[in-house]
Amino acid sequence: MHASSDHKPMIICISSGKGGVGKTSFTVNMAAALAQLNKKVLLIDGDLGLANVDVVLGINVRHNLRETIEEGRDPASILVEVPPGFQVLPASSGVPEMANLSYEEQIFLTNTLEGITGRFDYVLVDTAAGIGDSVLWFNNWAQTNIVVLSPDPTSMTDAYALMKVLNTRYDRREFFLMVNSAKSKKEGQAVFDNMSLVLGNFLKIKPSQLGIMPLDNSVAQAIRNQRPFYLTHPESKASRAISEMAVALSRL
Ligand SMILES: Nc1ncnc2c1ncn2[C@@H]1O[C@H](COP(=O)(O)OP(=O)(O)O)[C@@H](O)[C@H]1O
Ligand SMILES: [Mg+2]
Repeated sequence: MHASSDHKPMIICISSGKGGVGKTSFTVNMAAALAQLNKKVLLIDGDLGLANVDVVLGINVRHNLRETIEEGRDPASILVEVPPGFQVLPASSGVPEMANLSYEEQIFLTNTLEGITGRFDYVLVDTAAGIGDSVLWFNNWAQTNIVVLSPDPTSMTDAYALMKVLNTRYDRREFFLMVNSAKSKKEGQAVFDNMSLVLGNFLKIKPSQLGIMPLDNSVAQAIRNQRPFYLTHPESKASRAISEMAVALSRL
């Protein structure tokens, strides 16, 4: 099924349950960081939300996934390259809302996606908020699941709800937690410890800690500039956190 059978990408899905927690910021900057480590990176935007990847990176989309498939063209032609050299499959190019597809169409799209992803080292999927079908589908498709959460209590309950569904319905039990918008290392660690305790008590799951990302002005600024902060503010606290997490991911 893969474009080259000897090479399998690491498919990483990024979700949070709640919206506005920092999935898109994290994913875009992680893509930039992995690309700078000379990895071949594809970012799939699974969310046509407000500040989606097209908007955050100022991408213009020319082709559409469905028309590409119907015309039998190379699906890779809908990928858009952005600095420092990673590829994006934009949501506005028709990234599938699986719930609206027949079983045959789902298989077809899975094969198409796998044909594209085979050429990459890392595939990062930025998902929509909530626990809708496409969020669950992408989480199941990926072998690595990153759950982004913030110190906000509703973010913690929504992240828990997501992991509970993935665990009880799909038997997923390995989760990497990324605590975002932490005012201090201590606060970030407390959020991780809390979530870890709840997951252990109720689901018998022991999550891994991917990292803690500080609350940092450069993150919001970068969204306004439509450029990753990892490139515009490489010395920021947020960029340093991304760097450490990129190294951690590349060692998995
Ligand atoms: N670490 C952070 N520090 C400061 N602001 C942040 C941080 N992470 C995210 N934000 C802000 O939160 C908002 C939502 O982020 P976004 O990545 O779009 O979330 P999501 O994709 O989960 O909806 C953005 O305006 C972004 O600038
Ligand atoms: Mg988003």
